[in-house]
Amino acid sequence: MTRGAIPQASSKIQSRSIRSASLRAFSHHSRSLLDIESLSDADIHSLLKEAGRFRRVSIQKAPLKGRHIALLFYESSTRTRCSFELAAKSLGASTTLVSASASSIEKGESLVDTGATLAAMGADCIVIRHPSSGAPHVLARHLRIPIVNAGDGMHEHPSQALLDCYTISEHRQSLKGLRLLLVGDIYHSRVARSNALLLSRLGAQVTFCGPPALLPEVAETIAPGVRVMRDFDRALPQADVIMMLRVQKERLAGLQISADEYVRDYQLTPERLALAPAKALVMHPGPMVRGMELTSEVADSARSLVLEQVRNGVAVRRAILLRALGGRA
Ligand code: CP
Repeated sequence: MTRGAIPQASSKIQSRSIRSASLRAFSHHSRSLLDIESLSDADIHSLLKEAGRFRRVSIQKAPLKGRHIALLFYESSTRTRCSFELAAKSLGASTTLVSASASSIEKGESLVDTGATLAAMGADCIVIRHPSSGAPHVLARHLRIPIVNAGDGMHEHPSQALLDCYTISEHRQSLKGLRLLLVGDIYHSRVARSNALLLSRLGAQVTFCGPPALLPEVAETIAPGVRVMRDFDRALPQADVIMMLRVQKERLAGLQISADEYVRDYQLTPERLALAPAKALVMHPGPMVRGMELTSEVADSARSLVLEQVRNGVAVRRAILLRALGGRA
């Protein structure tokens, strides 16, 4: 498996092979969350409904008491790792964190051996973040416990898309016809991919905006109806939700991006936000780089849903873990 191999020329072939791999895995792991494409419409609605219940009603019992969840993180994370951990503990499960830099992964242990080791110790579910696209699917094929994708390379970040979708639905009656503008480093963004797949499926009109180096034309093929615009100022008046993305310096490998030009053309400033409809909402999956993709005035404005996204992440991940382990809240 190559690092971050999904986008550009080989995207369709790799998408197909990952999709068929995930479908095979899904038959053994109907409780896994590998990607948005593997979720049925009923799964999506039930996860969002359950998340809503978790937001409204406090947890009275511990439906996952006695269950063990391993958090296997090969890449750094604050929001995803902590919210899965908080979600698990709030449902009564115990958690253990395995990070690449402080485990036998550093000594060369393979992904499958690491997963099998955790399962042999009694892990009932593995939540995995990995720099390679398809890593959760590989684990799902080899293990007989549910696997939850917490972000795999440039492929997908399904729990993020679900929490983004949930957050938007708290502000809008319907997602049908919602104009979602995703801005910035689409090329490297698993968040952009998962959101485009999920929200276009639910009826939103998805537009990607960014420079060619970070947004190849092939991005239009991610989901039906997705379109590409280069001019941020022209895209803004047509946006109901503006989702800013971080420029992923750790994945740029050879791409020459001028920070000055990026800020000039794609930074969301108060002046630019004024071009959008008055009710347009600002989102960012985090981590934000203030002064790069958006200014602090915008990040901290009343239009920004950034902390709501984080808060909703715990409820959505409770729903994902409950589904994975078959518990009843
Ligand atoms: N949005 C997100 O995945 O953030 P973390 O990298 O902090 O988990």
